[in-house]
Amino acid sequence: MKHLITHILAMLAMTAFFSGTVLAASETYEGRKKCSSCHKSQAKSWRDTAHGKAMDSLKPGARKEAKIKANLDPDKDYTQDKDCVGCHVDGWGQKGGYTVEAPKKNLAAVGCESCHGPGRAYRGDHRKGGEAFEKRGTTTQRKVLADKGQDFQFEEACSACHLNYEGSPWKGAKAPYTPFTPEVDAKYTFDFDKMVKDVKAMHEHYKLDGAFVGEPKFKYHDEFQASAKEGEKSDDKKGKGKD
Ligand code: HEC
Ligand code: HEC
Ligand code: HEC
Ligand code: HEC
Repeated sequence: MKHLITHILAMLAMTAFFSGTVLAASETYEGRKKCSSCHKSQAKSWRDTAHGKAMDSLKPGARKEAKIKANLDPDKDYTQDKDCVGCHVDGWGQKGGYTVEAPKKNLAAVGCESCHGPGRAYRGDHRKGGEAFEKRGTTTQRKVLADKGQDFQFEEACSACHLNYEGSPWKGAKAPYTPFTPEVDAKYTFDFDKMVKDVKAMHEHYKLDGAFVGEPKFKYHDEFQASAKEGEKSDDKKGKGKD
């Protein structure tokens, strides 16, 4: 019995080790241009959201009242402050992500990859899956995308920015923390199920043809698709990422 348990524990450790390395190797951020060229409607809608403008809030003079309430200097330029920038951009501290030293416009603000996952490894499969569906009606399993780092749960990704403060209910919290906590104002309380439907912060949803099927499927996917709008079709079949 003891033998068996040791064996199982060793197997679990190996699995964790290998899945960890596979993910780490494929986690490369590229910026929203690579997604926007194929998903024009979402990209256009995203630009007007709070996430799309997240860098503006770090500029001097912006959101004065909110900053004063959180004990920040309303006239200071925080756009290069490493205690701030990380949650207002894509892929901070990650491979290919935004840096203060060599800032890339396509990674500034909370873009596609902050929620959907770093896209380098999976975006080619979107192209292939889309083509297979268009030509032959063949569907592709979402698992293929999930294995390459596409996120279909979202909650952990949101928490890393929204619930990152001392005393947070989220276990992963570590400095630098967000200055905007429920203690500063109850409106900063993060409730995933409510927030993920907030139209001021989230892009609008557009109808999919259904090229990708199966689990993992986002828990509100069917609900969002039921009320989704007709979107613009991609004119970038090769996925070159020009916009
Ligand atoms: C070459 C074009 C292309 C690129 C580049 C691309 N996609 Fe897609 N994507 C598609 C197609 C085609 C589908 C399937 C659409 C359908 O079913 O109607 C899709 C589906 C999706 C879906 C829906 C998946 C589901 O659950 O059904 C999401 C989310 C998505 N893409 C996000 C992204 C993000 C984020 C990026 C950038 C990292 C990206 N895409 C890059 C073409 C692309
Ligand atoms: C990379 C960090 C980051 C991630 C990931 C992130 N957010 Fe945000 N979110 C922000 C920032 C920063 C703002 C504030 C933008 C601004 O006003 O400057 C914000 C604003 C919001 C707001 C608007 C709050 C208000 O006061 O109106 C909502 C709602 C929201 N996010 C929900 C979500 C959800 C849901 C997810 C996950 C699906 C998510 N966010 C993922 C950083 C993030
Ligand atoms: C751990 C992630 C994180 C860090 C670090 C962070 N922020 Fe943010 N910031 C957020 C999130 C999440 C929101 C959205 C809060 C909400 O509206 O619920 C936000 C919102 C804001 C807002 C808009 C608040 C409002 O009510 O209009 C400003 C301004 C801002 N941040 C400035 C800063 C500054 C300045 C720093 C550095 C001193 C900083 N942030 C550091 C995550 C972070
Ligand atoms: C704050 C988080 C967040 C950001 C930023 C974000 N998305 Fe999404 N996106 C979502 C969520 C949540 C869904 C719903 C997923 C589902 O229904 O399966 C979604 C759905 C989608 C879909 C599926 C069809 C639809 O409209 O629902 C596509 C395609 C997509 N996003 C592309 C993008 C692109 C392109 C960007 C960047 C320009 C982007 N997203 C930025 C959270 C985000």
